Amino acid sequence: DARAHLPEHLPKAELHLHIEGTLEPELAFALAARNGVDLPYADTDALRRAYRFEDLQSFLDLYYALMAVLRTEDDFAELADAYLARAAAQGVRHAEVFFDPQAHTSRGVPFGTVVEGLARALEGAEERHGVTTRLIMCFLRDESAESAMATLEEARPYLSRITGVGLDSAEVGHPPAKFREVYEAAAALGLRRVAHAGEEGPPSYIREALDLLGVERVDHGLRALEDPELVERLVREGVPLTLCPLSNVRLRAVDALADHPLKAMMDAGLLVTVNSDDPAYFGGYAGDNLGAVRDALALTGEDLRRLARNSFRAAFLDDDEERRAR
Ligand code: HPA
Ligand code: ZN
Repeated sequence: DARAHLPEHLPKAELHLHIEGTLEPELAFALAARNGVDLPYADTDALRRAYRFEDLQSFLDLYYALMAVLRTEDDFAELADAYLARAAAQGVRHAEVFFDPQAHTSRGVPFGTVVEGLARALEGAEERHGVTTRLIMCFLRDESAESAMATLEEARPYLSRITGVGLDSAEVGHPPAKFREVYEAAAALGLRRVAHAGEEGPPSYIREALDLLGVERVDHGLRALEDPELVERLVREGVPLTLCPLSNVRLRAVDALADHPLKAMMDAGLLVTVNSDDPAYFGGYAGDNLGAVRDALALTGEDLRRLARNSFRAAFLDDDEERRAR
């Protein structure tokens, strides 16, 4: 594959990727047919035309609705394997994959079905695609803390397959503080901690995620630059931020890629990484995101190599694994 030598396809880790957000229209229709689910779209083109979003919530509405086609262990395995093949083709050597258990258990798909299916694909990925993996389960922040705690309980039999917990879905009005006890319980179980913060929400949510949830990495962190003291702290503590440039444009967190703060954040000394978030919806996988910001922000080869280096530094890999992956 000649494209394997594109600079944006250099070896990297992907650290902000919702597996449900890798559901391409073609697979959605195939799974709908297999599972007897009716989709309210005539065909894949009609579905793709619906991918015009005003904000995070307008995306989430479609994202959760389309999950109806995911029912069996095989569905989840197929979804994850398709992502891993696409990611590998764009230079991803290590992937830390989010999933949203509550979005499935709430519609009657057992927790175990989801994890067993995803784990089957993830655990075979090193051999099949040359990609090492981690699995991170996210709590839906617009659901209650009690629901999150019950989900953590459901995860207990599967903890050998789950590296950490995250926090996603509608941000504004659901500050990290709401999940303090859940994160304490997750830490007591030996789980790593990340959370979405500062995508649409204010910089104070980033502070809360650090101070109240003990996160080791911040997902998005896009609005950090609004708070210079926070930036200084993130730099000093080397807290990684998992930026998702194409997502930010599609969800209108930034007006255009040329206005994206990625380069300014690198210049400020922040440990930023480039990720794809929900690539089937936002127009690109990891390499596509890197290529797009390179073009829009005139990033140099050295900038791209630094971003790739950052991605391995920010990953939940031990030193030996990191050396092998890069
Ligand atoms: N933000 C919050 N929640 C999400 C996202 C996102 O970009 N993608 C999937 N769930
Ligand atoms: Zn996300």
